[in-house]
Amino acid sequence: MHTLHVELGERSYPVYIGRDLFADGSVLGRHVGGSEVAIISNETIAPLYVARIRRALGEGRRITEIVLPDGEQYKTLKSLEHILERLLQERHSRSTTIIAVGGGVVGDIAGFAAACYQRGVGFIQVPTTLLAQVDSSVGGKTAVNHPLGKNMIGAFYQPRAVLIDTDSLHTLPARELSAGLAEVIKYGLICDPEFYIWLQASMPRLLAREEGALAEAIERSCSNKARVVAADEREGGLRATLNLGHTFGHAIETAQGYGNWLHGEAVAVGMLLALRLSVVRGWVDAAEVPVLEGLLRQARLPLQIPVGMTPEVFLDLMGRDKKVVDGRLRLVLLRAIGEAQLVDDVSSGELEALLREAVERAKSDC
Ligand code: NAD
Ligand code: GLY
Repeated sequence: MHTLHVELGERSYPVYIGRDLFADGSVLGRHVGGSEVAIISNETIAPLYVARIRRALGEGRRITEIVLPDGEQYKTLKSLEHILERLLQERHSRSTTIIAVGGGVVGDIAGFAAACYQRGVGFIQVPTTLLAQVDSSVGGKTAVNHPLGKNMIGAFYQPRAVLIDTDSLHTLPARELSAGLAEVIKYGLICDPEFYIWLQASMPRLLAREEGALAEAIERSCSNKARVVAADEREGGLRATLNLGHTFGHAIETAQGYGNWLHGEAVAVGMLLALRLSVVRGWVDAAEVPVLEGLLRQARLPLQIPVGMTPEVFLDLMGRDKKVVDGRLRLVLLRAIGEAQLVDDVSSGELEALLREAVERAKSDC
């Protein structure tokens, strides 16, 4: 087992990465304060992993299981209300610990419930998708969606620990593994050029789910994320660079209906658009575009925006993004591979030209 730390003073916490961690009750037990626990998962994950988590918690605890329907479309205020209602019905006190077992959807909503319930209870992330293991479980962003925008209602609320059992990736559908790889590639692009090169050589091993390659990719991603979060927990600046491709991606997810395009798929297309814009600005060599396209293709991720999605739809949805500050859209671009920069001076003309080209490429690719 490898342990990283997210350094946030008295709210610091460990990220454990290893095999068969669910079998070792001591790791989980260390971070459960009292005898009350609520395990939150969904209909897909509960039958696979919840019994193991229950066993790891051992005897003598009062455990409530809350199983949500599966899907991004259930990351809603209604699901949040359901969780809070169950906690109240089962008389959970302030000393309860909420354990999120699942992907980013379960982690985000369970984290928000932990932040709200009695003004904040203990929270542990047990991420079971690659995306959640390398991104959403670390850093304390919690949220639910609203029909008018993704992740628009939420809180910063750090977990007490993150438990990444890499064995859980063996049951993950291939499309979900690819979606997680988009966030892994993101770290290479924004802050880790050596990792970006490593990924180009290692993609076949990652797709074959080779243990060593997966552990390396998860550790490297989490240590990059932990460093950024420790430096800028509330996204004053540096943390925003983790959103490379996300403003375009969120527009795709919202326009297509939550759950139709996976988050990582939308981010992959968004990162490519951000790279193209960086090339237009003269910051990155145009030769980097086919390199990223090749890597995304290897990872079985989409390269084109959804057919039928117009620049007008993008601009409308991007204008409602959380990254709009004082009416100015903030976008993450690349000064170089491995060096991200937050900009707020992209004109609507520049964006429109980029998106018109993307529409043409999507049409000609069909
Ligand atoms: P997800 O939570 O929907 O999980 C993907 C699918 O895989 C689901 O059907 C799930 O039931 C299934 N699944 C999960 N683990 C499995 C396993 N081990 N075996 C078999 N099936 C499994 O999607 P995701 O990609 O993990 O997360 C996406 C969400 O994360 C989005 O809502 C996004 O906004 C959010 N997110 C949050 C942050 C953050 O910092 N909080 C960062 C990135 C993404
Ligand atoms: N996924 C972006 C962040 O955690 O800030």
